[in-house]
Amino acid sequence: MRGDDVIETDDDQQQSFYTDVVAGLSADQKTLPCRWLYDQRGSELFEEITELPEYYPTRTEIGIFESHLPAMAEAVGPQAHVVEFGAGAGTKTRLLLQALKAPKSYVAIDISADFLKSSMAALAADFHDINVIPIVGDFMDAAGLAATQLPEGNRLAFFPGSTIGNLLDMEIIEFLKGVRAMLGDNGQFLIGFDLVKSEDILVPAYDDAAGVTAEFNLNLLKRINRELDGTFDVDAFAHEARWNETDGRIEMHLVSQTEQTVGVNGDRFTFQKGETIHTENSRKFRLDGFESLAKQAGWNFKKIWTDDRAYFAVALMG
Ligand code: AVJ
Repeated sequence: MRGDDVIETDDDQQQSFYTDVVAGLSADQKTLPCRWLYDQRGSELFEEITELPEYYPTRTEIGIFESHLPAMAEAVGPQAHVVEFGAGAGTKTRLLLQALKAPKSYVAIDISADFLKSSMAALAADFHDINVIPIVGDFMDAAGLAATQLPEGNRLAFFPGSTIGNLLDMEIIEFLKGVRAMLGDNGQFLIGFDLVKSEDILVPAYDDAAGVTAEFNLNLLKRINRELDGTFDVDAFAHEARWNETDGRIEMHLVSQTEQTVGVNGDRFTFQKGETIHTENSRKFRLDGFESLAKQAGWNFKKIWTDDRAYFAVALMG
């Protein structure tokens, strides 16, 4: 991989961002798609979140990998062509690529261009025998393009981190179907997902004492101010993490602390005191619930690994 080899899927990110912000702030329940949380600063803040004492998912999943990677690698088989959705900093990727037997290709999709460039250049330098192909884009849109970059053979999709939890049920089924179509009938899918647990553990994981998650959420308003000529008074909004029991998800919101009007590139949006912008869903699954979604998309569990507390699960599907 060379630095200029990154493939872009959205040649007008600014325009898409603007369209999403106007649509989202015009809705009854104001909302912004969570992918916009990940600019350079947002990606850095997310990496900080993964180290927080309250944020159990990353270290729990890495623990599962550390205990079971030999079994995972055995089940996946040699000479894999790996495609990863939402590649991030690449910590888990390294663990997987080290464990697999003679992996051949690695296609990485991530929304943050700069972040992807630096982490993939470092990865390519460490894994000489693997063809590294970075693609900038949302993992939902980029799957089609990734398919054209992925050679025939032992194809493996890798989607750790419970990023699938950002999606609604219908989107999950659509995405899993898309990946199946992309990989073909012999493709396999190694996927990590977070499990339902007590609210006392879930809420602090998304509202930490050090305030890093709050900064991550509020960074979205700073991004709108910077990139879309916004006038958000960031101090007039507060971060909130809510457990939505009915839908089995943590929701992140930005709560307006006063009645106020905010401008975005000339458009004006009014907030009542207490009104929120819903910025992210993070689904928590039951094993059978996830399995049933996967089945509806044509996937079957081959193996499932979890930690002693059953906080998190990694499934190999085929
Ligand atoms: C990257 C989507 C898996 O939902 O746990 C962490 C994002 N948001 N803290 C998650 C996130 C707030 C994270 N995912």
